[in-house]
Amino acid sequence: MNDRYTELLERLRGVIDGSGEAAARLEAVCALLAEGIDHFDWVGFYLVSPDEPDTLVLGPYVGEPTEHTRIAFGAGVCGRAALERATIEVPDVRAESNYLSCSLAVRAEIVLPLHHDGEFVGELDIDSHSPDPFTPDDRALLDALARLCGPPATAAR
Ligand code: SME
Repeated sequence: MNDRYTELLERLRGVIDGSGEAAARLEAVCALLAEGIDHFDWVGFYLVSPDEPDTLVLGPYVGEPTEHTRIAFGAGVCGRAALERATIEVPDVRAESNYLSCSLAVRAEIVLPLHHDGEFVGELDIDSHSPDPFTPDDRALLDALARLCGPPATAAR
């Protein structure tokens, strides 16, 4: 990763390891990513619902409000990542059939699963208004970040 991304990851780590409510720390993570990387236009967390089986619930986010506040496992990119427990990158959302649109401005999306003690606890979801925008540095940063976010995601549920 280049120096700017390494520095951003350290700031993200500081927020996650810092004090404060878990939800506030996750929201600060969203804000750092959205401010720090131009092509990250919507950044948010979906958390596994503690009450409903196989359902994701919208958690802290930064960006336009979305109608997709609850997503069943299997539905859309987020629901598919929940079933597969794998990162899904969609470079062109217009070419994706299983996709839940939040805004016509969105052109690409990446979703990373979050785990805590081996349990799937939520996801980090990023939308971009640019087509095919995600770089190897983006993916390296997000992979490292996803490994840090499991405990606060669990606490925020
Ligand atoms: N596009 C997502 C829905 C969530 S929004 O991007 C905020 C999907 O297809 O699951």
